[in-house]
Amino acid sequence: IFPDSAAAAKALAQEVKLLIETKNKAGKPAVLGMATGSTPVPFYRELIRLHKEAGLSFKNVITFNLDEYYGLSSDHPESYSKFMAEQLFDHIDIPKENINLPSGTVPGDQVFNHCRQYEEKIEAAGGVDLQILGIGRTGHIGFNEPGSSRDSLTRRITLDRVTRQDAASDFRGEQNVPHFAITMGVGTILRARKLVLMAWGENKASMVAKAIEGPMTEAISASFLQDHPDARFFIDHGASRELT
Ligand code: F6R
Repeated sequence: IFPDSAAAAKALAQEVKLLIETKNKAGKPAVLGMATGSTPVPFYRELIRLHKEAGLSFKNVITFNLDEYYGLSSDHPESYSKFMAEQLFDHIDIPKENINLPSGTVPGDQVFNHCRQYEEKIEAAGGVDLQILGIGRTGHIGFNEPGSSRDSLTRRITLDRVTRQDAASDFRGEQNVPHFAITMGVGTILRARKLVLMAWGENKASMVAKAIEGPMTEAISASFLQDHPDARFFIDHGASRELT
């Protein structure tokens, strides 16, 4: 529990710096799992600062994003591809070919193959060293809405009404929010060697408490983090309010 999101973001960015440097020394790329949304923004800002002011290079980093809205092209202003470019990738020296996100425009009959290939690409890169996560009001990680199984893999999913309502302001109305997304599964996420879930503010407190202290259940996909040997929550005081 950190005093605020800036302090948590700083601590996590230092860990990532160390991870990148350690992997580089071993001659291996660091493989990072990325999240979008408002939560990781201070963390990405700190990574950019470390790149610009402390010489941290991302030349040997490979990234895999958790999810993408299905139906949005990569240059749509609300696509996660665009979000990542604006919030991080355009400001660091990561090679374009090292950046991976699920496609939002793969034709329906190719979704299954696309998702299988995404899993294979993660494996081929050596697996994710550190996966960054946020948590939604439905308890989702990635877009693993209630009902997602512990072993679910990358797939197309129907977004929960609550999730679409939360995205409504970004899309200027709920009617414009996509109904589907492609997301890494809970099983995909749990294969990462380390997991960090970030959450800020009191409106995350109830889900944070349920994820950490409640039963492991498909009703709250973040509760499956209890089943991982190296999963940590980086939260502020607000988000810690309902922990016992
Ligand atoms: C985004 C993602 C989601 C978000 C979650 C919280 O890639 O996978 O699980 O982390 O919806 O969103 P924010 O951070 O906007 O509250």
